[in-house]
Amino acid sequence: RKIAMAPSYVLAIDQGTTSTRAILFDKNGQVSATQQAEFPQYYPQAGWTEHDPEEILQGAIECTEGAMKKVGAKKEDIAGIGITNQRESTVAWDKATGKPLCRAIVWLDLRTSDTVAKLAEEQGGRGAFRKKTGLPISTYFSAVKMRWMIDNVPEVKKAMDEERCCFGTIESWLIYKLSGGADGGVHITDISNASRYMLMNIHTCEWDEAVCNQVGVSMKALPSIKSNSEVYGHVKSVPSLEGLPISGALGDQHAALLGHGCLEVGTSKNTYGTGCFMLLNTGGDAVESKNGLLTTIAYKLGPEERTTYALEGSVACAGRVVQWLRDNMGVISSSKDVETLASKVEDTGGLTLVPAFSGLFAPHWRDDARAVAVGMTLYTSREHMCRAALESTCFQAVDIMEAMQHDTGLKIKDMRVDGGMTVNNLLMQMQADFLGMEVLRSKMAEATALGAALAAGLSVGFYDKKETVRDMIQKAGGYEHFKPETTYAQRQHLQERWKDALKRAMNLAK
Ligand code: G3P
Repeated sequence: RKIAMAPSYVLAIDQGTTSTRAILFDKNGQVSATQQAEFPQYYPQAGWTEHDPEEILQGAIECTEGAMKKVGAKKEDIAGIGITNQRESTVAWDKATGKPLCRAIVWLDLRTSDTVAKLAEEQGGRGAFRKKTGLPISTYFSAVKMRWMIDNVPEVKKAMDEERCCFGTIESWLIYKLSGGADGGVHITDISNASRYMLMNIHTCEWDEAVCNQVGVSMKALPSIKSNSEVYGHVKSVPSLEGLPISGALGDQHAALLGHGCLEVGTSKNTYGTGCFMLLNTGGDAVESKNGLLTTIAYKLGPEERTTYALEGSVACAGRVVQWLRDNMGVISSSKDVETLASKVEDTGGLTLVPAFSGLFAPHWRDDARAVAVGMTLYTSREHMCRAALESTCFQAVDIMEAMQHDTGLKIKDMRVDGGMTVNNLLMQMQADFLGMEVLRSKMAEATALGAALAAGLSVGFYDKKETVRDMIQKAGGYEHFKPETTYAQRQHLQERWKDALKRAMNLAK
């Protein structure tokens, strides 16, 4: 008689803005196998960014099969699947065919700036939905992307009128397709992704009918909102994963908060990727920001569990500035050169860079701001440029941290960090110096995927409680500490230079 073996892994699919990874985590929350692949970005016009939903799905399946192959895992070895994703990027598909109606509009796409201006005017300003949704009206959120599709893609309008249109964020699309697509796939979104549509009431955690009407999105086209940790459905369409429960989903930044073990009020994390996203756990309180932050969901780990909230500061351009130095300006030939070059100079020689290439997100919310480089002389070198690029990321994080402290009155002790840019030691030290606060770099490089794996593992009994994440982080090597070495006066001086450059980036629009 064959004895059924208990599964050894939980699978996390981390679908990011520029790449997708699949990671198998073991019982101790440690990484057993990873497979990553980049996928095409489409830029049909200046300021537009699109993804092909089918390519994203294909990539996610290929990465999963690749990771499984590395450790010889079969589907029987996997307890459940957790999905984490780039948030806000919006897909529209036809439920009759299960096919996308157009390409996905990516979160940093600026095409909706007119939609936003019009909506803000109709509703009495950009803050009109803040009380209900926790968000300002901005190009960033899914609702305006849906509205743009309805106004500009006839197939979407027609499908919506005929009640065939499904809108969703990336996790919603992946879960729908994996669970069968047109053949019975579930149309859901998790509460953290839902909090980024600008259609969900952040207090009741349900779609707000009035806001949906004001934006012009039919509630019938929206997914059902589920917790972050429950079985949404089972894989139907992929033979290698057939029957596996899809048992957790979170937006990538919320997953990282969980993966850093930020379970107490006042704990914060910052993830440095294309953009950079700082989240602060505010417990059961949905704190309304007076300083340009977003009120968002931290997590809700089960349908009956309580909702934990967070404040978020989203920065549109962080690591992207390094890519720009490499790809557009040819200042460096590979991203890692930025640290080497920036280390060769003591300071930026008076140069300040404001990377408002896609406008400015938190705390300013100015989609009309544009990048500026201030204070160049004939002495300015590419070393200075690189240093100014790194500084720009640190300055933006300081602005967010200050807003968080003002909004909550909390004395935030330290900041946990992860993401591609954090391999840069110079950046880490600069960040601690600029903040005047300890920066803790996790040895667990996959904080985002770990958060998704934890949520997925909890609902199928693979992990027993959320607090075990602390042991998982310790087992992976804990944190490296970067301690601040600046005085208050030095930090004030730095801030003045940054504030001056910021004003110029925002004045360009006038
Ligand atoms: O809000 C957008 C964010 O979720 C994207 O994250 O890591 O894919 O750049 P990332």
